[in-house]
Amino acid sequence: MAATLIDGKAFAAKVRGQVAEHVARLKEEHGITPGLAVVLVGEDPASQVYVRSKGKSTVEVGMNSYEHKLDAETSEADLLALIGKLNSDPAVNGILVQLPLPKHMNEELVINSIAPEKDVDGFHISNVGLLGTGQKSMVPCTPLGCLMMLRDHHGSLSGMDAVVIGRSNIVGKPMAQLLLGDSCTVTIAHSRTKDLPEVVRRADIVVAAVGRPEMVPGDWIKEGATVIDVGINRIERGGKNVLVGDVDFASAAERAGAITPVPGGVGPMTIACLLANTVTAACRAHN
Ligand code: GUN
Repeated sequence: MAATLIDGKAFAAKVRGQVAEHVARLKEEHGITPGLAVVLVGEDPASQVYVRSKGKSTVEVGMNSYEHKLDAETSEADLLALIGKLNSDPAVNGILVQLPLPKHMNEELVINSIAPEKDVDGFHISNVGLLGTGQKSMVPCTPLGCLMMLRDHHGSLSGMDAVVIGRSNIVGKPMAQLLLGDSCTVTIAHSRTKDLPEVVRRADIVVAAVGRPEMVPGDWIKEGATVIDVGINRIERGGKNVLVGDVDFASAAERAGAITPVPGGVGPMTIACLLANTVTAACRAHN
């Protein structure tokens, strides 16, 4: 393997340590303990794992965690009423509604009912607009984690050619905005992109966020490029259930200058950034 491994697990541990120090200072100097409310509707097994992990990490850095688990049959009106209560609760600085929501709910309506200053996911339309116009906002956790790893590895990203594969509201679009904010020349590629291999081959930075196991082979990667793999895909291999990214790690690592592994790359950074966003929200609430 020629590439440097970007160790998201270690980096996330460092970020969580910094968040814990910040939380301790807020408590000592201002008597404030930031609080994060996580709302889960239904019993989706993957969502249950994520929510448990978010709650545990919140407590570990010294913040208060408020978990709200609602039945899959909960009405949209009841969910909106809960969000209304959390919006006006001063102990709650961050609110996260785990997605996906059950089919009978309007996700956009629910997300946009969260007070923008408590929207630690950065999904509220106000935060999307603020990010798009380069103003102070809540930034979505996964793209923020990717940006932090890229800045840590490169220092300045100015002038680099970046290709984001995937155009989701959660990762692809905000990732592109953040890279543009750091003066990259940004291309957003997607399922209709013509000659995707050639587009990816031009990139100094490749962020893969499509949710398709190992769809980016090593020969699409420019020699020395930095590869950030956002994919978390469960597949059967050799009779075993394994996690793989959107990039074929083995062949990409032969050509890349640096690459994130799956697991242990982007994943741990997402939760670390959620905690950091909650502290940011708490600081802004008390200023
Ligand atoms: N479901 C999968 N990823 C996310 C995320 O980042 N935030 C929320 N709220 N739900 C998710």
